[in-house]
Amino acid sequence: MPSAMVLKGPSEVREACDAARARGLTVGFVPTMGALHEGHLALTREAKRRASFVVCSIFVNPTQFGPNEDLARYPRDLAGDVAKLEGVDVVFAPEPEAMYVPGERTRVRVDDLTAHLCGPHRPGHFEGVTTVVAKLFAIVGSSVAVFGKKDFQQLAVVRRMARDLFFPVEVVGHPIVREPDGLAMSSRNAYLSPGERERALGLSRGLGAAARAFAGGERRAGALRRLALAAVEPIATSIDYVTVADPDAIAPLPDDATAPERVLLAVACRVGGTRLIDNVVLGEDPPPGA
Ligand code: PAF
Repeated sequence: MPSAMVLKGPSEVREACDAARARGLTVGFVPTMGALHEGHLALTREAKRRASFVVCSIFVNPTQFGPNEDLARYPRDLAGDVAKLEGVDVVFAPEPEAMYVPGERTRVRVDDLTAHLCGPHRPGHFEGVTTVVAKLFAIVGSSVAVFGKKDFQQLAVVRRMARDLFFPVEVVGHPIVREPDGLAMSSRNAYLSPGERERALGLSRGLGAAARAFAGGERRAGALRRLALAAVEPIATSIDYVTVADPDAIAPLPDDATAPERVLLAVACRVGGTRLIDNVVLGEDPPPGA
């Protein structure tokens, strides 16, 4: 399998995509921050099913990290990442100055959908995401872009951004890819010590317990939330949220609400120093966990 062409400049990528379209190909896009794992590779395979020319970006986007977050230590291994990719035609790996040219002053912000869950815990994060994804969409001009559902709120925010700004791109969500024991794949799992890796299973176990209760007829939002919390509380160093929410509005349901037939249960917590997120859409996804 020939390896992908690695391009660093936005205009080179735009030219490669324009040339592909001129040859009658359709362009699919997978944005990543690298440290690629099987979850990312599943996104690129999905893009390849939906388009004939696939671009994968590898860019650790500085504007989506808070001042006390892991920007400096985020794992970077471009050569290793490129070697893992199959069926990808172009890897776009820009330097930060190519994406944020000196003097640039534009930010893209989506309201409402960012008001809950990760939004309040990571001020500025979603603005950084939507800003860089808007830039990437403008450069690549793909007709389809694939995002993982582990970042469920990000997917909703990017979809809204694409719709509101008339980007002619279909934003596709791909199911969470899990390790055999249930842990959702994440580049940040690499930070976990063996003991923390074991504790991290509390997230998928809690979501699994709630998903099985939901399948058995439980509709009390508080009961579903508490089932997840019971598994997360003992293993978490700190908890940002364990929330039952409307999956479209990303708006939490109060504990005394009755859950609808499709409802999001989402968790964010720290295990040691590592922030982990996971979720399940009850009524839609299979119960996570081994
Ligand atoms: O999900 C990610 O890896 C990032 O948030 C994204 C979409 C590549 C934007 O930097």
